Amino acid sequence: MPPDLLSIGEVADRAGVAHSALRFYESEGLISASRSGGGQRRYHRSTLRRVAFIKVAQRVGLSLEEIRGALASLPQSRTPTKIDWARLSAAWRPRLDEQIAVLQRLRDELASCIGCGCLSLGACKLYNPGDAAASLGTGPRYLLSDARPVEGGQ
Ligand code: FES
Repeated sequence: MPPDLLSIGEVADRAGVAHSALRFYESEGLISASRSGGGQRRYHRSTLRRVAFIKVAQRVGLSLEEIRGALASLPQSRTPTKIDWARLSAAWRPRLDEQIAVLQRLRDELASCIGCGCLSLGACKLYNPGDAAASLGTGPRYLLSDARPVEGGQ
């Protein structure tokens, strides 16, 4: 087997994913494989980078749709270059910055009111009286995107 072609087992072992995950990614059009004479999947070594990207993106909470959109921006007929990945990274920067901000709020503000509607903390009386945050949308508004009102005012 040419050195730049890997079996499903080799990709699964190196990437730390199950064979079924690779078949799933393939069925979702996120990665592609050729077939050997015996019909077995053969992945180009560059697939490892795509799988790594998929795993990390999922880990930080990005959807399969977002991941698919990003991978679709990469050339399908050749191995993506540094420039291709840099272009993807630049396009994703705002989305990742937003995700980083949510993770930072989760890390730093979970001990206070997150505007989720529970009204279970003393801080809720101050920051979310009568669940005012509900008017901003669903979920923990102060973690997701909306700034918590400043003490004693809006
Ligand atoms: S923490 Fe849930 S409403 Fe304040």
